[in-house]
Amino acid sequence: MKKHIVLLPGDGIGPEVTKAAKRVLETTAEQFGHTFTFETQDIGGAAIDHQGTPLPEDTLAACRKADGIVLGAVGGPKWEHLPGHLRPEKGLLGIRKQLGLFANLRPIKGFPSLLHASPLKREVVEGSDLLIVRELTGGLYFGEPRERRNQNTEVVDTLTYTRAEIERIVDQAFQSAQLRRRHLTSVDKANVLESSRMWREIVEEKKHDYPDVEVEHMLVDAAAMKLITNPTYFDVLVTENMFGDILSDEASVLTGSLGMLPSASIREDGLGLYEPVHGSAPDIAGQDKANPLAAILSAAMMLRYSFQMSEEADEVEAAVHAVLQDKYHTADLKVAGGIQVSGSVLANKVSEQMSSHDTTE
Ligand code: NAD
Ligand code: IPM
Ligand code: MN
Repeated sequence: MKKHIVLLPGDGIGPEVTKAAKRVLETTAEQFGHTFTFETQDIGGAAIDHQGTPLPEDTLAACRKADGIVLGAVGGPKWEHLPGHLRPEKGLLGIRKQLGLFANLRPIKGFPSLLHASPLKREVVEGSDLLIVRELTGGLYFGEPRERRNQNTEVVDTLTYTRAEIERIVDQAFQSAQLRRRHLTSVDKANVLESSRMWREIVEEKKHDYPDVEVEHMLVDAAAMKLITNPTYFDVLVTENMFGDILSDEASVLTGSLGMLPSASIREDGLGLYEPVHGSAPDIAGQDKANPLAAILSAAMMLRYSFQMSEEADEVEAAVHAVLQDKYHTADLKVAGGIQVSGSVLANKVSEQMSSHDTTE
């Protein structure tokens, strides 16, 4: 099969982890007889430096024509002084919004070989396997007005959702739950926010369309606590944009590192942008220390969701498992008796592991 992939390396560790994902995609193509073509485009700080804007038109146009998009990360201290609308992060928010990528799927699974790598007790983490379905193109991130006013004595951000925006993410979450253990937790702040009360109402209406899914509501503060005291309680969580952002970084501690969490930002027709949950990690950028597994696992999600290549995705995930089983890891993971390697060596290990596995057997 032929697929055209747009790579958006971005900033900081973004280029390092994107290169790792590309390497693994090339191995996948070789192994399964596909033709993957790649095109690299600017986004974020790199786009500001090269083209004066965080989301150039060419980047957007290339993404619209792509079969799949892989993003590294954006942002960094170099661009922090810029006004909000010119910051690297605006490029990422812009591409999500412009492409209508409203559903962000963030799976979190404790790898058996990494149970000791989490700061949480082994018995708490063991068996955890959850999916955060984060609304990605609405809420506080996009509401208007958002401004300083009254001579800088006041500031406003706005949380807006339309009924349709809530309905489509809730549908997505119910459908994800149907493919998993059929337990959905809708996370909100309905004791305070009107938007959350409407969110709850919609979940209550929608549940009749999915009678096989057990659904409940949980306040976000309690959910934050339960995520790290009893993570195996959860199957699928669905929540608005900002809550989902915060809860997913928190949930990454189950895996031992933020550098392990992949994500898919998708829309109804299957186009997706695949992005690790982590940021540009300026503290370790350019040192080949970054964990490439979040980006590699994001590429596997692209194979699964945008290309319908589930066997290929399984192969990448199995290779990641095998490499971790062999105790190879980057510095962010604390693995007792493990073999610490650079990010590029870890990516090569995944690729070699795939090549050593004959899929025609
Ligand atoms: P961060 O996720 O970049 O880093 C948080 C911590 O996790 C750091 O200690 C970092 O070294 C570590 N870390 C992250 N990814 C890692 C990896 N793959 N391997 C090893 N360690 C890893 O968050 P931050 O420091 O708060 O933000 C830095 C910049 O990244 C900011 O400009 C922020 O806006 C941006 N950001 C971008 C994205 C994105 O592009 N999707 C996501 C989050 C943050
Ligand atoms: C993420 C990031 C982004 C977000 C930032 C960089 C805009 O934290 O993808 O989780 O908040 O969505
Ligand atoms: Mn985040």
